[in-house]
Amino acid sequence: MPESLKKFQSTKLSEKDINDFKKELHNAYLEFLKANNEFYKINQKYKQKQVSKKEVAKVVEIKKQKGKAFKLILKEKKFKENLKFISKVNKNLSTKNSSIVFEKSKEELIEAKKIYKEFLASVKEMGRGAELDQLNDIAIKAENIKFKYNFDLPYVLNDVSFEIKKGEYVTVIGHNGSGKSTLSKLLIGALQPESGHLSLFGNYVTIDTLDQARRFLGIVFQNPDNQFIGSSVEADIAFGLENKRVEPKLMHDQIYQAAKKVGMENFLDKEPLMLSGGQKQRVAIASVLALSPEILIFDEATSMLDPKGNREVKEIMVDLRDNMGKTVISITHDMDEILNADKVIVMNKGQMVKFGTPEEVLKEKEFLRSIKLDVPFLSLVEEALEKEGIKIKHSNTMDELVSQIC
Ligand SMILES: Nc1ncnc2c1ncn2[C@@H]1O[C@H](COP(=O)(O)OP(=O)(O)OP(=O)(O)O)[C@@H](O)[C@H]1O
Ligand SMILES: [Mg+2]
Repeated sequence: MPESLKKFQSTKLSEKDINDFKKELHNAYLEFLKANNEFYKINQKYKQKQVSKKEVAKVVEIKKQKGKAFKLILKEKKFKENLKFISKVNKNLSTKNSSIVFEKSKEELIEAKKIYKEFLASVKEMGRGAELDQLNDIAIKAENIKFKYNFDLPYVLNDVSFEIKKGEYVTVIGHNGSGKSTLSKLLIGALQPESGHLSLFGNYVTIDTLDQARRFLGIVFQNPDNQFIGSSVEADIAFGLENKRVEPKLMHDQIYQAAKKVGMENFLDKEPLMLSGGQKQRVAIASVLALSPEILIFDEATSMLDPKGNREVKEIMVDLRDNMGKTVISITHDMDEILNADKVIVMNKGQMVKFGTPEEVLKEKEFLRSIKLDVPFLSLVEEALEKEGIKIKHSNTMDELVSQIC
């Protein structure tokens, strides 16, 4: 291996460096915007003689400093240097070098080009594309969330607080209009809380960090027909990846892998309209998975499916948690689904009235009935058996129950 290539490999910039740069740039940009805002506000006050010239000068000074800091980051040269370095190494290779060296050097050059392209794009979008770090293991923390659609309407969410840990599968149940879909819209940032806070992996979600925070999340809706954009399954999954600027060369593999996770890898060239409801929903899940979000939200994603499709999608949710380490939140009217979950959130009239394991929640059958919720079929059978004086242990599946009785 030539010395120059070795040296490059020991100093080269990585994906992490570019992401750190984006974060730094984005923060500096926000600080600069904030300082500009302050300047505008104090100027207004000065015009109304509410503040002194000296106070204005202080704000002007801060604005200048923030502007300088921001511009300095924009002038960052290291990504260009990184590319120059490897370009030179690549050029200076001679026929004495082995083909392995040539190959390696070319690979490094491609990587450096990609990082430089990312750098140029991130400067254009002020670092908005940065991926946030996971600062802790709490996938979603909701603190005293309040929301209403209009000031003269009642609260649709009223003081909702909960924590969902990374890797948990949580179902959200509640009667029609209890605020479940509104909650999912707040989680994905389509709506903003009137008060209270949301954080994802320890990152506060604010208007400024929304674009970045959203990358932690993917959502699958009720109607599979409304989720298609592409003319083939492959084109459909590709859509989100194109927005993410994935290299065309890597795209096919990422699409294939995402489709494989939901068992749709042999349908890539099919037209979405030719698929069954369950298959369409699986493709919708693959489209979300291709972007590899940490948290997947399903808003009644099984409600329009036939029993087979319904079962398939429920199995995928369990698989997402068990084998892919994803955090899954499923809003559902299907009371049998909650048996698969780690935790259940029970909503009633905009409030979270219960948060516990399926067993804890199902114990309170009368309470569930009082807020117009059904009890899973399995629990009904258990209840009926108990009434007959037949004592059995709680089971999580019909098979378990059957083997207990028979
Ligand atoms: N865009 C909107 N403007 C005004 N009110 C709305 C809007 N969307 C929903 N609501 C109201 O907010 C409340 C909660 O609605 P939401 O859709 O969150 O309930 P949900 O629990 O998802 O119900 P469902 O089980 O029927 O899907 C309802 O009273 C609904 O009428
Ligand atoms: Mg809903």
